[in-house]
Amino acid sequence: MNIKNKIMPKQKIEKLRKQIQSHNHLYYVLDDPEVSDSEYDRLMRELQTLEAENSELITEDSPTQRVGAIPLSEFDQVTHEVPMLSLGNVFSEEELHAFDKRLHDRLDNDDEIEYVAEPKLDGLAVSLLYKQGKLVQAATRGDGTTGENITQNVRTIQSIPLKLMGDDYPDILEVRGEVIMPKDGFEAFNAKARAAGEKTFVNPRNAAAGSLRQLDSRITAQRPLDMYCYAMGKVEGATLPNTHFETLQQLGRWGLRINPEIKVVQGVKGCADYYQEIGEKRQSLSYEIDGVVYKTNHFDLQEKLGFVSRAPRWATAHKFPAQEEMSKVLDVEFQVGRTGAITPVARLEPTFVGGVTVSNATLHNMDEVERKDVRIGDTVIIRRAGDVIPEVARVVVERRPDDALKIILPKECPVCGSEVARLDDEAIARCTGGLFCNAQRKEAIKHFASRKAMDIDGLGDKLVDQLFDAKLIEHVDDLFLLKVEEVAKLERMGEKSAENLINALKASKHTELHRFIYALGIREVGEATAKSLASHFSSVRYYRKNYYNQLTRSRFLPRIRELQKIMQASETKLQEVDDVGPIVAAHLQSFFKQEHNRVVIKKLLAAGITWQKPKVPAKKEALPLLGNIYVLTGKLSQIPRNKAKAQLEALGAKVTGSVSKKTTAIFAGEKAGSKLDKAEKLGIEVFNEDELLALIN
Ligand code: IVH
Repeated sequence: MNIKNKIMPKQKIEKLRKQIQSHNHLYYVLDDPEVSDSEYDRLMRELQTLEAENSELITEDSPTQRVGAIPLSEFDQVTHEVPMLSLGNVFSEEELHAFDKRLHDRLDNDDEIEYVAEPKLDGLAVSLLYKQGKLVQAATRGDGTTGENITQNVRTIQSIPLKLMGDDYPDILEVRGEVIMPKDGFEAFNAKARAAGEKTFVNPRNAAAGSLRQLDSRITAQRPLDMYCYAMGKVEGATLPNTHFETLQQLGRWGLRINPEIKVVQGVKGCADYYQEIGEKRQSLSYEIDGVVYKTNHFDLQEKLGFVSRAPRWATAHKFPAQEEMSKVLDVEFQVGRTGAITPVARLEPTFVGGVTVSNATLHNMDEVERKDVRIGDTVIIRRAGDVIPEVARVVVERRPDDALKIILPKECPVCGSEVARLDDEAIARCTGGLFCNAQRKEAIKHFASRKAMDIDGLGDKLVDQLFDAKLIEHVDDLFLLKVEEVAKLERMGEKSAENLINALKASKHTELHRFIYALGIREVGEATAKSLASHFSSVRYYRKNYYNQLTRSRFLPRIRELQKIMQASETKLQEVDDVGPIVAAHLQSFFKQEHNRVVIKKLLAAGITWQKPKVPAKKEALPLLGNIYVLTGKLSQIPRNKAKAQLEALGAKVTGSVSKKTTAIFAGEKAGSKLDKAEKLGIEVFNEDELLALIN
């Protein structure tokens, strides 16, 4: 073997690691990916293969080495050389003024103080230790002096670099920050756990803490965790900037994730404005915060101010009003949703939580009621997070009165009296009344009319109630048979508003396919899934050649065909659509299989509902040819090949150079050769140039 062969893999491996580290940083730290997922996967696979062939070259900081450690029996203890402190609190603007005044008094200076204002993240404080730029240890805060060694788990968090970027990092750098679970990850985790009858987490903070305290890092690796850095501990072998803000920017350049909401503000007014600004933004942030933190920016001031017991004098947390409060369960009622799901809802003693008065809270389902052991009469902790429905977090068992009543699932639907069914393996109980149950029918009509569905202007929930209760409508298709005179007779309705409604109904008939699908109210088929279905089944591979003739004859027919394709698709075909897994596919099939649903659809189409060919929306997930892989071959005479390729790609398709089993279809021009042969052999659809033009135009 010559020397070149020995050196080559090493260099190649190093190059790949650098590339992947840079893509990780762009994706996880800056939220600004540069390459597609498949390109990233390709680099990762290449590195894995090379490392497998050259195992002596594997290092701890390789991006392939994020999981795979042996489960621990317990965590080792770690001593923090620089203690991990906590923060003082202020709860009002008055207290904020008092804090600022204390600093002025101590500094004996009237000049406005420059602060750095940061969101106070609701997670778990963690310390990261980098030696020579490599992550060697991660620890929890513990009691501030001694924490637990959670290195294996922290290595699985993708936004934490295993190796720092650049070459000017200190020999030893200890960085501190908060590990959090983003709101959407938390909701998804709990929804999945709930469906599987497993333990849910009370809030994202507990979820982050529980995930980090796993002895098996493979479990942590599956949890959506993230980290934002906000402070430093021990540093050796570098001079750092003079301010906290500049230091954070420097940490950012070394590849650590810094919260983009962090700002330099002037004086107490700047702090108060920031508190207000972040308070307004709070719901739209992707993670939970429980307040903001103010820190004096200049390190010389921090030094002068020093510490009181376990907290710095130069910083404080300004907390938001509590989102958890105590209340009492007065009663439990059962609500019937659009899909028949029966949800227990606790009626509560009205309680002020996180800025609003809450008198109802969801108990989700009977499994949750049983797991939390909620009873009527119990004192409970209720929790309101962002704009989500308030929920009962837990029971204060010590306060349970002797006469507390167990909650029992009713045997009959509270709306229609039909039997309530709860399958053994399902957490959710359902009314079996189907389209007979008023709750379900009424809700189905409200959903059909709603903005994201058929968007029937002026047909709100109240009017649906009125129309339904007056027996003017029973099913969605009845809407299109309404007459001005009938509607005008309803309370608070005049001739004019009745006319407006009928016009709005007429206008709503020209819709889009995805709206129509969404409007049908099929279980688990939300807006995004409806869009995926519409664009997937409108793409070329579902037009057999003879459709093209019809296309020229009638602009209407192919539209119905798109819907028919969805209605007739097998579960396997349905699962080819993004977002559609076995459960959604089964719901789609069972919906379209039922005769009464087919009748309603037929009547809706007969009433004149039509849609345009799905447009090419700018959003990636709604591109109509997304997921399709084409090959262009032979000589094209009406369009240059690169132009055709670009246009197909603009519609979301991939265009590749060779035919494989994965190819969706090929477009063959004149004198097409081996690629055409191969496509025919593999049974892949072949289209001509005219058909290509019809598709991209
Ligand atoms: S600074 C010496 N900044 O709040 C200052 N802490 O109540 C130490 N926290 O244990 C902390 N967001 O877990 C700081 N932007 C932020 C923070 C933050 C959340 C947590 C942290 C700390 C606790 C203190």
